[in-house]
Amino acid sequence: MLTRLIPSSQEPLPVIGVGTWQTFDVADKAAPRHLVDTLTTLRAAGGTVIDSSPMYGRAETVVGLTAEAVAPDDFFYATKVWTQGREAGIRQIEDSLRKLRRPSLDLMQIHNLVDWQTHLATLREWKAAGKIRYIGLTHYTDAMHDQLARILATEPVDFVQFNYSILDRHAEQRLLPAAADHGVATLINRPFTEGSLLAKLRSNALPEWATELGISTWAEFLLKFIVAHPAVTCVIPGTRNPAHLTDNLQAGEGELPDAAMLEKMAAFMRQI
Ligand SMILES: NC(=O)c1ccc[n+]([C@@H]2O[C@H](COP(=O)([O-])OP(=O)(O)OC[C@H]3O[C@@H](n4cnc5c(N)ncnc54)[C@H](OP(=O)(O)O)[C@@H]3O)[C@@H](O)[C@H]2O)c1
Repeated sequence: MLTRLIPSSQEPLPVIGVGTWQTFDVADKAAPRHLVDTLTTLRAAGGTVIDSSPMYGRAETVVGLTAEAVAPDDFFYATKVWTQGREAGIRQIEDSLRKLRRPSLDLMQIHNLVDWQTHLATLREWKAAGKIRYIGLTHYTDAMHDQLARILATEPVDFVQFNYSILDRHAEQRLLPAAADHGVATLINRPFTEGSLLAKLRSNALPEWATELGISTWAEFLLKFIVAHPAVTCVIPGTRNPAHLTDNLQAGEGELPDAAMLEKMAAFMRQI
């Protein structure tokens, strides 16, 4: 699978990962078969990134027990802190470690910028102590892109996570260039606008020029558009379905569209 370098460390990261909002929020006490198959599929294709949050119900717990059944040391664990206050934040991070069954975490992000100044100080301490490898910030709405970009200009962070898709290109204006300028890795959420883009495309055939580029599914079409942006480090489509993940992972293989093809893809989507 194609990788991109995390600017702050030069560590390569596979460009397609998996998101766990709703998809991993299940009540099982044992690792659910379909999620074991999902994480096995991720690893088999060379993917590593799993994005979660204490906001996602039981998702962190289910990631922990499912990853343990697959290859716990082989994943890049990204989760978040999502609460007010220093002490509550520390307790939540400790809970995440326990739920994910990890001695340390790869990436700890501040979810939706909730009490971000307070948590940023904590995350820096945890990073210095070696309990977190990278720190980051997240949001999911266009309205917060400017604020994220302003923070990147003043606060050293390793990652920023935000929304970007073929029909929601607001991030191209300021946030993606800001991440590139300040040497910050990007995780892209809501690549299918919570699945609605794929639902909209279901009754349409892929255009012939897309199949000529080697694209065989709509998921691959939508994700390759995102991965083609040079400031994108990794996209994290949410899925609970190993077959869907197989489609998504294809976007990390083969050729990427050039500038002319990207505009053709976007124009095609606008008229659907
Ligand atoms: N503020 C934040 O930090 C924030 C906000 C939003 C999201 N996120 C993160 O970003 C991740 C992705 O965003 P999202 O889950 O909201 O939306 P998304 O990735 O745009 O869409 C997820 C939906 O698409 C479906 N899907 C995925 N691959 C598919 C395929 N190949 N074919 C058909 N359907 C497919 C999934 O259903 P199936 O399970 O049936 O495949 C799921 O319902 C989240 O899971 C979360 O980890 C973070």
